[in-house]
Amino acid sequence: MQPEPDNDLEAYGRAALADLASANDEKAIEAWYRKHLAPSGTMNQWRKRIGAQPAEERKAFGALVNTRANALKAAFDAQKQVVAERALSQSIQSQSVDVSLPGRPVFSGGYHPVTQIIREVERVFHEMGFLTFESPHVELDEFNFELLNMPADHPARDMQDTFYLSDRTVLRTHTSAGQVRAMRLYAPHPVRVILPGLCYRNENITLRSEIQFHQIEGLMVGKSVRLSDLKGVLLNFARRMFRRDQRIRTRGSYFPFTEPSVEVDIRCTLCNGAGCRVCKHSGWLELLGAGLVHPVVLANGGYDPREVRGIAFGMGIERMVMLLHGIDDIRHFFQNDLRFLQQFR
Ligand code: FA5
Repeated sequence: MQPEPDNDLEAYGRAALADLASANDEKAIEAWYRKHLAPSGTMNQWRKRIGAQPAEERKAFGALVNTRANALKAAFDAQKQVVAERALSQSIQSQSVDVSLPGRPVFSGGYHPVTQIIREVERVFHEMGFLTFESPHVELDEFNFELLNMPADHPARDMQDTFYLSDRTVLRTHTSAGQVRAMRLYAPHPVRVILPGLCYRNENITLRSEIQFHQIEGLMVGKSVRLSDLKGVLLNFARRMFRRDQRIRTRGSYFPFTEPSVEVDIRCTLCNGAGCRVCKHSGWLELLGAGLVHPVVLANGGYDPREVRGIAFGMGIERMVMLLHGIDDIRHFFQNDLRFLQQFR
């Protein structure tokens, strides 16, 4: 290029600016810079020509080159900013959140319906001053049967089909197995405990019977304890657990470890006594077994049966949950089917 310097510098400047105007992305902008303003670029070639000018024109030509170089640099900076802002707004637009889209639900777990009811029953009894007492699932025959007034070969043992682990150990068939353990811890002082937990029976699995199920036992021993306390405690429990005007009734029954023994029913929670499918049109639902602790059991627990009396009761939790929710098959509780369990979250 051997141009008439100032004229061609003008033409070069215009062409370079037009070139810049069409550089619309970062890559094109950088290429433009390398071509024109970088040390190896065209603008530097113009600078190199300053010294070759006739002495009287050199200064003016130098000023023109610098002005042009500064103009190109200013135009480059402005265009670079425009391109950067455009890129930023494009990326914001492409990543923007559409707030009108429906949210993604967060899956939250929940307590098993049996656990929920156990906690509720525990809360009610804790409010009445009962403490929770845990006893072993793998139990000595002694605590599960013998000390509860069921010596070997006692016919009442047949009431509960038993999983024997050895001659002397069983999977506890009822939470009553913890009664004598609790008494021996507290005797001769008064005791007021509930014993929740799993029980096991070697039974056929049916709509109402499982081989494992939960019970909550209640035990209260003291000098002033009497049968009317049993009714009071259970009526209070039923009213706090079910409805404020809940009614209960007792029927005579038999358990070797209580004398007298009763079975306690509640007014049907679904029809309130009018009669329905769940209460088999009787208006009543069986809730638990109970009675005054047998003197032999009190003595085995370390108390003097002439001085103290005790009340005891035991309820099945799965059957209570079935009553509360109108569930007709006990097997749902152990199948871990989320479609069933999620209804109780
Ligand atoms: C007893 O187990 C006595 N220990 C209750 C008791 C305690 C009486 C203290 C007196 C004093 P029973 O065998 O009836 O009693 O069981 C009590 C409850 O456990 C039943 O009413 C029922 O709700 C539940 N239950 C018993 N067997 C099963 C089973 N196979 N599946 C589900 N629930 C059961």
